[in-house]
Amino acid sequence: MRLDRIDHIGVAVDDLGAALELYRGPLGLPEVHRETVSEQGVEAVLLDVGEGHVELLAALDPDTPVGRFLAKRGPGLHHVAYRVTDIDLALRDARTAGLRLLDEEPRRGIRGTRVAFLHPAATGGVLTEIVQPPEVH
Ligand code: CO
Repeated sequence: MRLDRIDHIGVAVDDLGAALELYRGPLGLPEVHRETVSEQGVEAVLLDVGEGHVELLAALDPDTPVGRFLAKRGPGLHHVAYRVTDIDLALRDARTAGLRLLDEEPRRGIRGTRVAFLHPAATGGVLTEIVQPPEVH
């Protein structure tokens, strides 16, 4: 699998407003995108940091993946996302290498991306996302 670079780190937050005060304030990162993904039960905010991003994730409901994460572990680092050029190829490579996947097929991410998650058991306890950016027309 060829990973081009780190695309973003995902951070689970209890209080999006308070987290944004920190990230936009003392940490000085500009907010560039905000999107609610109802099928994942999450509100995501992207902040720019150089070529990469921080993705703040707030649960819309306790009974969602991020809601359950927050209940179990509290707020903090949630996942690391690597950028790839071809997510279908990356998933094929991951399968060939015997890596356990959470997503057998790519699904819709925020900002027109295609994303898939590898199982943290396959990646040393780090929930790992791969991201293919949208085609630029
Ligand atoms: Co992400």
